[in-house]
Amino acid sequence: MDKILEDIGLVARKAGKIMLEASNPKVMEKSGHANFCTETDEKIQAFLIDNLSSICPEASFLGEEDGQDVFTAKMSRGFCFVIDPIDGTSNFIFAYRPSVISIALLKDGRPYLGVVYNPFDEMMFTAQSGKGAYLNGEPVMSSKAPLSESLTVFGTAPYYEELRDQTFDAVKKLMPLCVDVRRSGTAAWDMCCVACGRCSLYFELKIQLWDYAAGALIASEAGCSVADIEGKPLSYSGASSIVCISQGIRQIPDIF
Ligand code: IPD
Repeated sequence: MDKILEDIGLVARKAGKIMLEASNPKVMEKSGHANFCTETDEKIQAFLIDNLSSICPEASFLGEEDGQDVFTAKMSRGFCFVIDPIDGTSNFIFAYRPSVISIALLKDGRPYLGVVYNPFDEMMFTAQSGKGAYLNGEPVMSSKAPLSESLTVFGTAPYYEELRDQTFDAVKKLMPLCVDVRRSGTAAWDMCCVACGRCSLYFELKIQLWDYAAGALIASEAGCSVADIEGKPLSYSGASSIVCISQGIRQIPDIF
């Protein structure tokens, strides 16, 4: 299996090159507030499907940019790649770093492999279920620091205006409990940052499977607890709220 993970990493690295070389991509709008897709998202998605198919020919695909973004019964059987060609599309459009490539491989509906690649900083996070999380081949573990001594990060659930008040009420409650809060613009990256100890908590009230599938596995393998805001396990079959806390934080703080 190490070989498959390595091969997926190589594909992610090549996809990262496409991201770095893109200039002035055409921007299309999808439904929801400021929900964009660029021609580079589509180009990278096509590249990933092409190249990942030869690594695992029997796998089905769930991708953000194919207009068929619904998890089906078929995807919960055998292998299924869940891909976000550019997580952080708005960052990408405005040249606000980072944006990442996120690739998860599910096996019978459960997370099996995860790769998140940030080509701007050449940071490749990888994980295999039960075998730990790695950054550029070196093992990583989440922070043991308490919340009061940690940075935290959140996502604004930008496409769901009905969640805005609840999001910012939670941030207001979180702020005095930690050192400070951040908003990166990519959910997959946020979870990798909790995984490697840069911060100790990430939450967002609604994200899609392709935003969390790889990052959540990487964070879990780095000793984090990853659940929805009620503390229930993630479904890995569709959109969810999400809270990812490092090993130093014993329970989800009372902010929701
Ligand atoms: C988005 C990013 C963002 C998060 C949104 C996601 P996209 O993904 O991960 O940080 O707040 O909820 O949808 O649209 O850039 O792939």
